[in-house]
Amino acid sequence: MNGAENSILTRGICGSKETRWGASTRNIGSGAGKWKQFTGGRASVVTISSCVRWCARMSIKYAHVAAIAMVVACRLVTAAEPAAEDVFARRILPIFNSPNPSSCTQCHLAGVDLKQYIRPSEEATFVSLREQGLVDIERPENSKILKLINMREANQAGAALIQEKTRQAEYAAFAEWLKVAAADPKLREVAPPAPERRPGPERPLEIIRHARKDRLLESFENNIWAMRFRCMGCHVEGSESNDKLRQKHGDRVAWIKSTGPQATMEYLLASRLIDVQHPERSLLLLKPLNEVKHGGGKKFIVGDQGYQAFRGWLDDYAMTVADRYSDAASLPKPDGLERFGTDVWIKLSNLPAEWGDSLLQADIHAWAPQRNEWDTQPIASTDRAVWGKGRQWQHTLTLSAPADSAQAKTWRTSGPSLPADRYLMRVYVDRAGRKARDWQARLGQEDYVGQVEVQSAWPAGYGKMTIVDADRLEK
Ligand code: HEC
Ligand code: HEC
Repeated sequence: MNGAENSILTRGICGSKETRWGASTRNIGSGAGKWKQFTGGRASVVTISSCVRWCARMSIKYAHVAAIAMVVACRLVTAAEPAAEDVFARRILPIFNSPNPSSCTQCHLAGVDLKQYIRPSEEATFVSLREQGLVDIERPENSKILKLINMREANQAGAALIQEKTRQAEYAAFAEWLKVAAADPKLREVAPPAPERRPGPERPLEIIRHARKDRLLESFENNIWAMRFRCMGCHVEGSESNDKLRQKHGDRVAWIKSTGPQATMEYLLASRLIDVQHPERSLLLLKPLNEVKHGGGKKFIVGDQGYQAFRGWLDDYAMTVADRYSDAASLPKPDGLERFGTDVWIKLSNLPAEWGDSLLQADIHAWAPQRNEWDTQPIASTDRAVWGKGRQWQHTLTLSAPADSAQAKTWRTSGPSLPADRYLMRVYVDRAGRKARDWQARLGQEDYVGQVEVQSAWPAGYGKMTIVDADRLEK
């Protein structure tokens, strides 16, 4: 007999724990009369020790099948209601000791793990879960810890399927243990622990929230997804040009998924394009920089808006999964803008020769009729290196609005666009190469080269770009 069985026997059958047992109406042979007499023929409470004594008497008195059946029945009592401590040892401790990630990691990239809620002893675990409001003693099946375990994403493909199996195992283990633990008077009455001994996440709430996958997706949408038009034509799955490239290079060129940002992010997270140890050396940056030979040529230069967005997201992701944020102050500070990529093109022609191949940024400001002036915050912006030889520059606009503003909501639901109107275009040129030295640098007054009023309906499409003659720029 192994240790676990032994403890069940000593604590269960030979213990004095009270156990509910409904009366049996089955015919159990010549023992039936005694049985009815014992239980009164209806649901009643028997103690296991009295049950065992009775079983023993029966087996002396009737050395035959019926008595054996009673012994089996007595054992069933302990099988149905084993001691909480044994369930804890058998079901919860293995989760605590397992090197595998819990199902929580499907949504919490760091800061939260089911293991953080478990202590090596049953009592300490139960009490601190209770103190944190995670156990419903009267209705253990409604406990909040079960609700946390039961959180799941709609998508159940791939890795999510493995997590689903883990989740079901965790749920079954906690449900079984909580049921017996919540009924255990010894656990119900034990005093609360000192606050420092409470299990649960160590990281502050701000970090736990930041490390959630839905937050990562929000940031992905605002950064990488908003800049996808810089890569669209070639990389969006199912487009005509992507189909052609796919025949030559394989499925890997279709990394922008036609089903949207979530599928694209999931693909990238599972791909070899992100280097979490050295995010700045991720292929997702080195390819468009053409530092690793890129079929699409140079699509980023260090410090441009596309690079900043991709690099910012990659750095943050790497910090998050390594659990390297220690306090709320170390988290990145968002600029409070929501960004929307478009296929609206703008072109500047007749550029002065001295701008060479520098990075040029154009900001578009809307007219604010209430204040009778141009908005200070641009409604759209874009940047790219000048094509010095052709003395021109062109690119797609990224629109932006304060997060959760009415404007951002409209763009989110109906798609981003600019109404036909007059706008002010302000132009900056990084002739000093400031961005190459500091990828986070922003162009400002010292890079300013002039402004021009533009009237446009901003149609989408490469063939319909808004063209502005740089001769019209005024300081
Ligand atoms: C399907 C995604 C998902 C899974 C899986 C998941 N959570 Fe969460 N969790 C969330 C979301 C979303 C929130 C914030 C919304 C809320 O407070 O209800 C959250 C909030 C929390 C919070 C509160 C932090 C706060 O912001 O107030 C804790 C603690 C937590 N989860 C722990 C866990 C644990 C432990 C597990 C695993 C047993 C788990 N979660 C599994 C999505 C998930
Ligand atoms: C003009 C077409 C074109 C554009 C635009 C383009 N690429 Fe590419 N890209 C390619 C081709 C072709 C390949 C396959 C050959 C190679 O690996 O370089 C590729 C490969 C890649 C790869 C490697 C994929 C893998 O799994 O091996 C990455 C990453 C990548 N591009 C990123 C980008 C990013 C980011 C942008 C936008 C900023 C971009 N590309 C814009 C044509 C393009």
